[in-house]
Amino acid sequence: MKVIVVKDYEELSKVTAEQIAEVVRNRPDCVLGLATGSTPVGAYEVLAEMYKKGELDFSRVKSYNLDEYYPMKADNRQSYHYFMNENLFSKINIDPENVHVPDGDCKDTDAMCADYEAQIRSAGGIDIQLLGIGRNGHIGFNEPGDFLYPDTHKTDLTDDTMDANARFFSEDEIIPNAAVTMGMGTILRARKIVIAASGASKREAVAGILSGKITTQCPASLLNMHPDVVLVCDEEAYGRD
Ligand code: GLP
Repeated sequence: MKVIVVKDYEELSKVTAEQIAEVVRNRPDCVLGLATGSTPVGAYEVLAEMYKKGELDFSRVKSYNLDEYYPMKADNRQSYHYFMNENLFSKINIDPENVHVPDGDCKDTDAMCADYEAQIRSAGGIDIQLLGIGRNGHIGFNEPGDFLYPDTHKTDLTDDTMDANARFFSEDEIIPNAAVTMGMGTILRARKIVIAASGASKREAVAGILSGKITTQCPASLLNMHPDVVLVCDEEAYGRD
């Protein structure tokens, strides 16, 4: 694993965006695995700026997002569909036909998840997967536990994750307690992975990755098994002088 420690969030956003930009430049019809949460917002801004300046072309790019709340309609402003449109898709020239986010409004989650896996496979697999990290070490919505799931699946969210995500919801909104998410295998099958962590609340999770041990209690620690991972973290998340 390559570890890049940067000073602050601004630098983290630039470095993270550059990892993705390099793949898009080298392979204009690449398949991106994308993430939500507050961490990638800055990187998405940098990518949108690169597109605006004519430095990047997304017209042939395909994307598959990591996860979505369940149940959740795509047009709900709390949905990850909505988040991606707001923060990235509406600002670049990606073809709306080429963007994919798990359907949080489907009736049959097993069928939807199997279809999502099949779609990723038929697209040729993910070239670069962007990840944030939960403060409990989750990636996507693969929560710490006795075991993890390899493929896209429906999952319950832990109290800690619901608590962390509460900041995005107003008092009268119900915080979802379930989600559909790529599994650990889906993530680890990506050819390259870039994981970004910012702020002191991520210190323990980052330490879990850097511990050199693999445990289902810190799903992100499984990234140590992948041959091409870049961990980008700011000094606060890294937490070592
Ligand atoms: C959510 C998402 C994750 C994300 C995590 C951290 O739980 N499912 O993909 O990495 O939040 O979010 P943030 O970047 O806002 O700390």
